Amino acid sequence: MPATRFVDRLNEQIAYEFAASQQYIAVAVHYDAQSLPRLASLFYKQAVEERNHALMMVKYLLDRDAAVKIPGVDEPRNDFGDVTEAIALSLEQEKRVGDAIEALAQTARDEKDYYSEQFMFWFLKEQVEEVAKMSTLLQVAERERNNPSRIEDFIVREAFDADAADQSAPEAAGGAL
Ligand SMILES: [Fe+2]
Ligand SMILES: [Fe+2]
Repeated sequence: MPATRFVDRLNEQIAYEFAASQQYIAVAVHYDAQSLPRLASLFYKQAVEERNHALMMVKYLLDRDAAVKIPGVDEPRNDFGDVTEAIALSLEQEKRVGDAIEALAQTARDEKDYYSEQFMFWFLKEQVEEVAKMSTLLQVAERERNNPSRIEDFIVREAFDADAADQSAPEAAGGAL
C-alpha cells in the first residue's frame, strides 16, 4: 500500500484535476460563444487532458489497492473580460497545480514511498509543459488583445494545440480519451 499521507493528498489532487477540467470546459464555452473556434478547441482538448490526469491517478490508486473517492467539484468561473482574462486564469491554475504536484512528489519522498515518487515524475514533466504552453498563449493574447483573430491564426500556424502521443504517460482508468 502507498503511504496514507500520499493517498490522502493524491485523492485531493484528483479533485483539483477534475476541477481544472470543468474550468477548462467553461473557458472553451466562453470562446466558443464568441466564435473563436481555435481557442475553444484548445480548451476543450485541455479539459479532456485534465480529466485523463484525474483518471491516471485513479488507476494508480486502484492498482495499489488504495482508497479512491470521486469528488464533486465547485462551480468554475464562467464570466471573463477581454480575450486575455480566461488565459491568465488558466495560467494561474496551471501554476497552482504545478505547486501541488511538487508537494505530492515531496510527500512521497518524505514517506519513502518510492513507487509513488516514481508515479509523480511524469506529472512533474507535464506541468512544466502546461505552464510553458499557457504562458506562451498569454503572451500572444496580450499582444493581440485587440485582434483575437490573430491569436487564432497563431494557434493554427504553430499547430499549437496538436497533441503528440506520449507513450510514457501513465495509464488512465478506463483508458485515456
Ligand atoms: Fe492536470
Ligand atoms: Fe493542466
